[in-house]
Amino acid sequence: MKTAVILISGRGSNMQALVDARPGLDFRAVISNRPAAGGLAWAQSRGIATRVVDHKAFPSREAFDAELARAVDAFSPDYLFLAGFMRILTPGFIDRYPRAILNIHPSLLPCFPGLDTHQRAIDAGVKLHGATVHFVTPALDHGPILVQAAVPVLPGDTAEALAARVLAQEHRIYPQAARWLAEGRVEFRGADVVQVRGSGVEGDWAISPRDPP
Ligand code: GRF
Repeated sequence: MKTAVILISGRGSNMQALVDARPGLDFRAVISNRPAAGGLAWAQSRGIATRVVDHKAFPSREAFDAELARAVDAFSPDYLFLAGFMRILTPGFIDRYPRAILNIHPSLLPCFPGLDTHQRAIDAGVKLHGATVHFVTPALDHGPILVQAAVPVLPGDTAEALAARVLAQEHRIYPQAARWLAEGRVEFRGADVVQVRGSGVEGDWAISPRDPP
């Protein structure tokens, strides 16, 4: 079975969705950059090893990332899942794990990289918003896309209401991506394009690619 480590900074609802879905990966550890991250207790309650690498204890991003890499490497993961991990990683760290770091971002990338995505989507007047699972590259929120899910932006939406609608889809597509990785179905077409072997696009087109019914 392929192995994985999850990086969190907060409540870790995406981490919970990943673990509870049992996607066929051995989740060896959860690592947080914040000692108070709520997700740590949950991971412990599931018998998953936890570590804290507090970014405040390091003088630079490079020093933090070096310690983070040491903590990660102790578990020899095939994949690293960023799940609400709120630190920008250095190119040095990212290059250490080529095509092995995944992130979930709450927008339909390449629209709205960065923070505050839901309010920005409302302010821009887009009719569809959503979430993206992508491979992490040194360009922030711009790596090869594995799966996306779209939700409508409704008249009168608040950022909170829209975030909740998007989060429900995050909890659906991140485990799906993990399953595809576990099944060895994820293929690169060149440096930027990812395809999932055997996935169809039938149905309502809300998620593409999707497994056939
Ligand atoms: C999610 O919306 C995730 O996409 C974003 O931050 C939020 C984290 O939520 N990067 P959680 O910690 O997974 O509950």
